[in-house]
Amino acid sequence: MKKGVIITIDGPSAAGKGTVARKLSKRLKIGYLDTGAMYRAIALLSKRKDVCSEDDSAMEELLRAVRITFFTGEDLTPRVLLNNEDVTEAIRVPDISALSSDVARCAAVRGRLREMQREIGSSGDIVAEGRDMGTYVFPEAEHKFFLDASASERARRRWLELREKGQDIALQEVALQMEKRDKQDTERRLAPLHPAPDAVIIDTNTLTADGVVDYILKAIQGAHG
Ligand code: DC
Repeated sequence: MKKGVIITIDGPSAAGKGTVARKLSKRLKIGYLDTGAMYRAIALLSKRKDVCSEDDSAMEELLRAVRITFFTGEDLTPRVLLNNEDVTEAIRVPDISALSSDVARCAAVRGRLREMQREIGSSGDIVAEGRDMGTYVFPEAEHKFFLDASASERARRRWLELREKGQDIALQEVALQMEKRDKQDTERRLAPLHPAPDAVIIDTNTLTADGVVDYILKAIQGAHG
């Protein structure tokens, strides 16, 4: 693959974006950018500082000193630092999932994170995963994918993931929380979740993560002739 390429992967919650984006970046030996983790980190910070996501000026103040960085852990998994504190686990709990969708509606947050994301992607060679990668953050990206699956399959996946982490929650509760968050992400005014017109849409209902990665690699190779 040529140098400086940006691959975007967007889609609703638990459509498989994270696993696929990580595997793809490993296969291609390029960077991986988890933009959902950035919204989650801001959500965690706003909760700790007791700042309401609808208070624009307080959110702007909160963003002034924020630093979000990524590093690879000893077990080779990606980890997230919020102002030098490792928050990788703290941002993956249900109330931060809900709050991240709330802070994602705030113009100041979207503007600041878009800036940081474009800075990280400025030299390319990156798989960028989120909701608006192909539409707003990297509209110029050469390869765009949108992963989707039925609501019931996505809820089942997220429920299994939470159970594996020892979080005791009913499947129906996970499905309800997910439906609410996806509705809010799709209907918000700023950078709502939808596929870019030039994105390849992949239904992941019956595909494994490796199957999706193979499909994407073939599409990229095809595009490069
Ligand atoms: O991908 P995730 O579940 O970690 O994302 C958490 C929330 O962050 C999601 O509900 C909406 C928001 N988000 C966004 O608005 N834009 C992105 N590019 C990534 C995430």
